[in-house]
Amino acid sequence: MKNRVISPSLLSANFTHLYDDIKKVEDVGINRLHLDVMDGHFVPNLTFGPFIINDIRKITKSHLETHLMINNPHKYFDDYIDAGSDTLIFHYEASKAIEKDLKYIKSRNILSGIAINPDTNPNVLRPYYQYLDYILIMSVYPGFGGQSFIKKTLNTMNFLVNDTQKHNITIGVDGGVNLNTIDEVYSTGIDITIVGSGLYGADNIKERYNNLVSDDQ
Ligand code: DX5
Ligand code: ZN
Repeated sequence: MKNRVISPSLLSANFTHLYDDIKKVEDVGINRLHLDVMDGHFVPNLTFGPFIINDIRKITKSHLETHLMINNPHKYFDDYIDAGSDTLIFHYEASKAIEKDLKYIKSRNILSGIAINPDTNPNVLRPYYQYLDYILIMSVYPGFGGQSFIKKTLNTMNFLVNDTQKHNITIGVDGGVNLNTIDEVYSTGIDITIVGSGLYGADNIKERYNNLVSDDQ
């Protein structure tokens, strides 16, 4: 059994005291943060951009994975890399030149990632495994925190865990991961879960984190 790695989505943090909310999860041993960037076009919601990420970079050494839910992502790669992202993830459905985009991110010496929506057939990623460090499987339709887990995405997880075995690709799962769903998600063999409301919604973050990472049935 692999150790369970959790990357908290700051979308569920309180932005009026973001520093405290980042320290709260780092205090329990988390060293990775998930940053949800939305443009109001690719998804029907707007969040934050490189300016905020640049400030977050100044207050944490955690690995920053930036999840771009935006159209024409390549136009903004430099902004998000310069802001301090350690992994930059764009959507398969938003890019018009996947291989070129992945190569560009890698040329900037950070990790490259692709996210796929719940209805996208994971087969489409096969030509790109060699350029990929990270695959983010969406287990909700992107746009909002706090949605219900879409069960059929467990098939995508099973497929990709098996199909990428010969490659060095980290597989993350994003959306609706909480105490009720996390065991099933990890049972597929994926590496990382993104947890927003399922972690930040708890009164006691330490206790919730311990429950999420424990694989006792
Ligand atoms: C959804 C985002 C997720 C989301 C996760 O569009 O990409 O990262 O904030 O939040 P929960 O864990 O609440 O589903
Ligand atoms: Zn996300």
